[in-house]
Amino acid sequence: AVIRRADYRAPDWLIPDIALDFDLDPALTRVEATLSVTRNGDHDRPLRLDGDGLVPLAVKVDGRTLEEAEWHLEAGALIIPLSGDSHRIETLVELAPQSNSKLMGLYASGGLLCTQCEAEGFRRITFFPDRPDVLSRYSVRMSADKARFPILLANGDPIEQADLPDGRHSALWNDPFPKPCYLFALVAGDLACNADSFVTMSGREVQLGIWVKEADLPRTAHAMKALKDSMAWDERVYGREYDLDVFNIVAVADFNFGAMENKGLNIFNSRYILADPETATDIDYDGVEGVVAHEYFHNWSGNRVTCRDWFQLSLKEGFTVFRDQNFSADMGSHAVKRIEDVRILRAAQFQEDSGPLAHPIRPESYMEISNFYTATIYNKGAEVIRMMALMLGAERFRAGSDLYFDRHDGEAATCEDFVAAMEEGGQIDLGQFRRWYEQAGTPHVRALLSHDPVAQSVELTLEQTVPATPGQPDKQPMAIPLRTALFDPATGQHHGDELLMLTEPKQSFTFTGFAAAPVLSINRGFSAPVIVETNRSQADLAFLSAHDDDPFARYEAMQQLMVNVLIGRIAGQDTDDGAVIDAIRNTLTDPALDPAFVAETIRLPSEAYLGDQMKIVDPDAIHAARDALQTKIGAELMPLWRDIHAKTKANAFSISSAAKGARKLRNAALHYLVASGAQDGPAIAFGQFSEADNMTERQAALGTLANGSSPEREAALDIFYNRYSADALTLDKWFQTQAFALHPDAVEQVQALGQHKDFTLANPNRVRSLYGAFAGNQWAFHHGSGKGYALVADCIIALDKLNPQTAARLVPPLGRWKRFDEGRAALMRAQLQRILAQPGLSKDVTEQASKSLE
Ligand code: ARG
Ligand code: ZN
Repeated sequence: AVIRRADYRAPDWLIPDIALDFDLDPALTRVEATLSVTRNGDHDRPLRLDGDGLVPLAVKVDGRTLEEAEWHLEAGALIIPLSGDSHRIETLVELAPQSNSKLMGLYASGGLLCTQCEAEGFRRITFFPDRPDVLSRYSVRMSADKARFPILLANGDPIEQADLPDGRHSALWNDPFPKPCYLFALVAGDLACNADSFVTMSGREVQLGIWVKEADLPRTAHAMKALKDSMAWDERVYGREYDLDVFNIVAVADFNFGAMENKGLNIFNSRYILADPETATDIDYDGVEGVVAHEYFHNWSGNRVTCRDWFQLSLKEGFTVFRDQNFSADMGSHAVKRIEDVRILRAAQFQEDSGPLAHPIRPESYMEISNFYTATIYNKGAEVIRMMALMLGAERFRAGSDLYFDRHDGEAATCEDFVAAMEEGGQIDLGQFRRWYEQAGTPHVRALLSHDPVAQSVELTLEQTVPATPGQPDKQPMAIPLRTALFDPATGQHHGDELLMLTEPKQSFTFTGFAAAPVLSINRGFSAPVIVETNRSQADLAFLSAHDDDPFARYEAMQQLMVNVLIGRIAGQDTDDGAVIDAIRNTLTDPALDPAFVAETIRLPSEAYLGDQMKIVDPDAIHAARDALQTKIGAELMPLWRDIHAKTKANAFSISSAAKGARKLRNAALHYLVASGAQDGPAIAFGQFSEADNMTERQAALGTLANGSSPEREAALDIFYNRYSADALTLDKWFQTQAFALHPDAVEQVQALGQHKDFTLANPNRVRSLYGAFAGNQWAFHHGSGKGYALVADCIIALDKLNPQTAARLVPPLGRWKRFDEGRAALMRAQLQRILAQPGLSKDVTEQASKSLE
């Protein structure tokens, strides 16, 4: 069944209050719910309470047990006709959390009991109107065996605790803030706490707790620091204060995605909480900081102001990603954070936007909402907010966000409400800009600069096209903000940075006072999520790669320089690579540059990004060309790589930005050094692997070795396995490193790893580490034989029976068949058809696979 945005209707019944009583046990949990229900508006429709796999053992209305004829089930939902306008409804159901392999609803993970409700998991716990515009006050009682489950947590504030007969105990929690049921959570288990506190701007003290298994306690310090930094940042930057007396975070090992912002009780995938130098890379540290912030920021952008319906998902996710990106930038380097975020956007969202699953940030329809937690909703959604912030400027953007929070506090709002608040609070007309919410597809902008030496002027002609996407053959022009500067090549200076608004299909801008032709710097800071094509020469790009004062534009010029060479090589031309090597040398030897920025800039575009630049992707030619250029860069700049690698070796570990930057550059140097084919390359990598006192250098060395076939490769993999086989998160890296390896036998290796005794489909992190990583390894996954496609399809089919949501996430890589040669396309389609032919296939995988074939 397809759900449509246009069909939205306000709820028939409201539930101002709900009391839940959980008698917890992994094998058999009893859930009693008491709902106060009130009729919403003038209608005679029955009460409909969603349910998924639930059997009502008792149904009461106003204290009277109903006969079986007085209610019925319809598509899992409990239907009760009611005569009055307000009633008390009681239901009783039984659950088996330990057999819940979907990890939605109430489930067991590593001895804990925990919940995940967003988007539609609450209906797997109790009968309830499972939609975000029904807001209720929750009172939650839990009882459980005290020895196995000494800690009992739920949303809001703890009210009381009591010991019960038979070694059981109970706890009562109350959440004073009305919330939709997707924000409900409870956790029961044997947990240790990293306890701390935070004093808010109005002087209230909040108790903070990060709850993990006892042995993991030493790995929670970074998450706690991130939490306190986030709380302070949201007060300072958005004026938003925390509102309960306690804020708890729990880490669980089995989780379908990153984390969840349940009111006052965030539940996290343990990979976004646990970090120490021995097991976490700098990227992991940054991931912890960013996700802790993201979930905390949801307390306002998501919880206090929630979504009216799931078509508005980007209202909370796009805005919250924008907020966490800016927080992380403030904690570290703005330049490097922007480069990283754009790299993710291009790798994940641009691919989505140009394929069969393209959808606007506010979709019009869906079959399964879990499939819409996408890079488009999250990352493009964040870019759309970022464009508004840019057009408004900091002060007016803050006025708009203040108005939005004040106006909609306690409400379930829409994307339109957000835009309207920005328009009013920020005093701007966003009429045409709203198309970013309506139209899918990445806009292409052609920017041509022409110089008139007589008039001493330049004309910049901008032309935009928005490609057709499924269901949207014709597009209207978008409002595209492009930060632009014109550089004088003689002085290396530019005359200011202008925000040009491209609103027409074609538009020209004239600039005067240019005796010589300037060099164009456009979409600076990546001011709009578009693809820009220019007529800039390699010399222009080399100039910008050395002189542009916008760090993103400087990085971009370097990347474009590399892309041009590589695409030329792939097309069989003998394109000159001297400019690339010179630019890398200049960057490496410029003492003014931040090492982290240098490391980002000198890295070659990924094989997948090169594929995105081609109409028909040729994975083998891309790999060969990129590999050859890497070898050449490695060899020609050898003294520099050796020097940098030696100089960036730290004496003692630190997680400061400077130390992270040094490691990033050291790893980049090692990578080129080994790629050069130097005889001693593998030994140097093995040395780094063995001597490193941190995972960032250890894993980078392992990854570099994994691309080759040296004896050091096998030795390092064995050492790594033996050292970390008892630590699931770190063992994931062992699987992932091999799945990512640019190795000719990668397919066979992944196949064997799928049979390894430590591989399991029950843990989503493990599945993503192996099959998710492999599907992102373009050269390996797109092996001409099609064996890579079969491997991923086998995994999807097997996993769908256990965990459809995580299985569906593996489908999109198979859906990109239009971008490949006929042979590969046919092989990819055949796997999609084989998946669709499976009996009992989930709605999740059915939606993704069938749309992928269209
Ligand atoms: N709201 C969570 C977050 O982004 C993610 C929930 C994902 N839910 C899902 N069904 N995929 O912070
Ligand atoms: Zn989120």
